[in-house]
Amino acid sequence: MRIKDITELEIALLLESVFIRYGYDFRQYSGAHIRRRIMNRMLMSGIADITQLHNRVLGDEAFAYSFLQDLSITVTEMFRDEGFYRSLRDNVIPVLKTYPFIKIWHAGCSTGEEAYSMAVVMQEEGLYDRTTIYATDFNQHALNRAKDGIYSNKMIKEYTTNYQLSGGKESFSNYYTSSYDHVIMNQSLKKNIVWANHNLVTDGVFAEVNMILCRNVLIYFDKVLQNKVQDLFYHSLMNGGILCLGSKEGLRFADIYEEYTEMDKKHRIYKKKY
Ligand SMILES: C[S@@+](CC[C@H](N)C(=O)[O-])C[C@H]1O[C@@H](n2cnc3c(N)ncnc32)[C@H](O)[C@@H]1O
Repeated sequence: MRIKDITELEIALLLESVFIRYGYDFRQYSGAHIRRRIMNRMLMSGIADITQLHNRVLGDEAFAYSFLQDLSITVTEMFRDEGFYRSLRDNVIPVLKTYPFIKIWHAGCSTGEEAYSMAVVMQEEGLYDRTTIYATDFNQHALNRAKDGIYSNKMIKEYTTNYQLSGGKESFSNYYTSSYDHVIMNQSLKKNIVWANHNLVTDGVFAEVNMILCRNVLIYFDKVLQNKVQDLFYHSLMNGGILCLGSKEGLRFADIYEEYTEMDKKHRIYKKKY
């Protein structure tokens, strides 16, 4: 099947309709990302031109929700970028240890692997009993999976390697129980994680926290939207709070850059100035 060329205007009109009809705002996501996802959906659904896709999205709610899922990329893993977690243990944990209570916000937590990784670190550092982890995403399907904390056995080998390379202190198998082809994360990790639906584009400040992790999310936003979300993070962080971004993201070109110091440039860890 050959898909007819799609213009910028057609994409803009489709995203405008999605926003008006369903309240999801993708209008400032990066153009290249949105175009790829639209083309992919059209190919998968045998839709040759964007007018047909537009009509289907407006007229068929079930289809529209699966299209919305397409626009959110949920690829994630436990202890993603081991170097980041090593730096977290070496540079960030000593700061967090000085607080009586610790609030951490995972913005764009996808299916939960990142939040469980953090729970493991906090438990091993003796901080979990005074920690609350808020893990949010706008993709309810991903959030439901995160809450269940059930992952395929096939991933565990890779997650165990990541855990070991990231400075893990135990045997990773202590943190889950195996059952047939999957593993279930321990209740002791789940107990201080609050899962919530939150949209970074349309919702406001979520909580006042000591640390925010928003990794591999801003990469899908255009510059204007990145700055808007950075503003939200700035107002959600306590003074001296810590902001962690993904390996391909950074504050260097953000409007708010001057308000932070770099704790670890390579691993994109920043500290809000007092
Ligand atoms: C690639 S995953 C990153 C998951 C995890 N942070 C990591 O680094 O492995 C990106 C996540 O951001 C979420 N996301 C995208 N736009 C969002 C928005 N406007 N509000 C909240 N979450 C969003 C997606 O649903 C997806 O789960």
